[in-house]
This record gives sequence, C-alpha cells and structure tokens, in this order.
Amino acid sequence: MVGFVAAAWFLVVSPSTQGTNPRPNPDINAQVEKQEELTIRNITHETVRYRIKPSSSVSDPVRMTIHMGDIDMFPGNESMDVSFQRGTETISYRLDVGMPYSFRYDENDELELYEGSHGRDDAPDLAPFVPTPMVVVEKMLEMVRVNRNDILYDLGCGDGRIVILAAKKYGARGVGIDIDPQRIEEANAAAREAGVENLVEFRRQDVFKVDFSEATVIALYLLEESNELLRPLFDRFLQPGTRVVSHNYPVPGWKEKEMEFASVKVEDDEEPHDVYLYLR
Ligand SMILES: C[S@@+](CC[C@H](N)C(=O)[O-])C[C@H]1O[C@@H](n2cnc3c(N)ncnc32)[C@H](O)[C@@H]1O
Repeated sequence: MVGFVAAAWFLVVSPSTQGTNPRPNPDINAQVEKQEELTIRNITHETVRYRIKPSSSVSDPVRMTIHMGDIDMFPGNESMDVSFQRGTETISYRLDVGMPYSFRYDENDELELYEGSHGRDDAPDLAPFVPTPMVVVEKMLEMVRVNRNDILYDLGCGDGRIVILAAKKYGARGVGIDIDPQRIEEANAAAREAGVENLVEFRRQDVFKVDFSEATVIALYLLEESNELLRPLFDRFLQPGTRVVSHNYPVPGWKEKEMEFASVKVEDDEEPHDVYLYLR
C-alpha cells in the first residue's frame, strides 16, 4: 500500500539527536538521485509511527503510521522535518526534497531512518548506491577465480565496476542490473571507456524481476536483509556450482556453503571490508 500526504547506504544516514539533520555519508549523499517526491519506506518488521511537516511550516506535524513493507510519498519541493520515538528518545531529522529514505534497523537492532536507493513502490530498496572500493573489487574477482568462460551477474551493479573489471582483466561476460537509470548510464559509459561493450550488458531492472539462472558467478554488495530476501531465489534458480561473492554482508542461512572469507583493509582509519565466497 502506498500512502500519500498532500502538500507536502552498506553505510547510510547516521543517527542524530533531536534537532539535528541526518548525517549522510558524504559519498552517498553525492550519489543518491533526486526523485519526484520524498519517500519514506518501512523495511522493518514492525509498524512505525512518526510525525512529519514541511520545514518552514509552523503548524503541528502530521502523525503518520506506516506498516511494514509500505511506502509513504510526499510530493512538494520543500525539505521535511520528521521525528519518531526510539525507546524514550525522540529522534528528529531534516529530510531533503525528493530523496528516498527507509526505516531500517541499525547494527544494534534499533529503529533508524536511512537514505535509500529509490522511492519506487514496485521494487524493494535493496541498498543505497555505495561503490565497492576497487581494491575490494580486485579481491572479489580473485577469490571467485573469474575467467573467460564465466557469465557474471552483479545484482545492484551501481556504476558497473565489478562487471567491467571482470570483462577487462579476465575476459568474462557480464550482466549488471540496477534499478537506478543514472547508474545504468554511468555503467554503459564506463564500459565504452574500458572497451568492453562487446562483453557486458547493463539493464535497468528490479533484481527480483530478472532471470539470472545463466550466471556462473553472482556478485553482491547489498544489505544483509536483502541477501536474505534473495537467498530463496538463489536456492531455486542458480545452477549447482555457481559461485556467489558478496562484499561486506553474508548470505544468511548459507553458512555451510561458505568456501572462503577475506578481510581487506582499504583505509587505515576504517574497518576492513569483508568478502564472502559461497558455492551454490
Ligand atoms: C551498494 S550499491 C552496490 C553497487 C555495486 N555492486 C558495487 O559493488 O560497486 C547497491 C546498488 O543496488 C541498487 N538497487 C537497490 N535496490 C535495487 C533493486 N530492487 N533492483 C536493482 N537494483 C537495486 C542501487 O541502486 C545501488 O546502485
């Protein structure tokens, strides 16, 4: 169900205290594309209550109730002030015009409002666009032993970097899927620049509407709960022997299929990036 109110990252928006803005990861803020309306999605397992009003308005905020899986849309060209309860604490954010947001759980299983990837109501928001650092892409391709006989699918391909490097360095064919048209444009331009257009294809599609059964390699950089949503499709449609390589987030329920794990240091002051390799 979609709610309308008239007049109105792995890695996302950080928690803030009342009265301050969400503190987006700068990389993500630069990449998330504006859409026609500000959207708030509920990806938690509970009904969430929140209050919202245009930032300039002096009237009381509107009380909203959003059920799990639903999306509320707020047309208009003004930023919005939103607040919700987390235990006894009131969390308040100022949300940007035309941007997608999602209620999710944080690493402590607490309610949090994050930036999303898109505000479409016909496709799940699997993760905001955050590119995998190239050193991690190199490691993923090395671990998965990609070669010229492979067909690699990147589900949520972003700017296409994994598919493109697999083609350029190892001669693998590849298909990148992303819901965001800007990402597909970037990926096509990058493929031309790398001279691998004959080996790769980028499609603007919802991952859940794609037949990826021909893949011999699947690359992922999605949130853990998104990998969990995809696992039944992997179990059903991937051929036995397909390798699945995932940046930072495991595939829940696939522990016995895990073949290799690596931790890659990218920046000295950052947590290392994890890479999981599975054999379907
Ligand atoms: C974290 S980025 C990963 C980009 C790339 N795979 C990489 O590792 O650099 C996740 C991508 O998933 C895309 N995405 C989110 N939900 C999607 C969906 N339902 N179908 C297709 N793509 C989706 C986002 O637009 C975003 O570009």
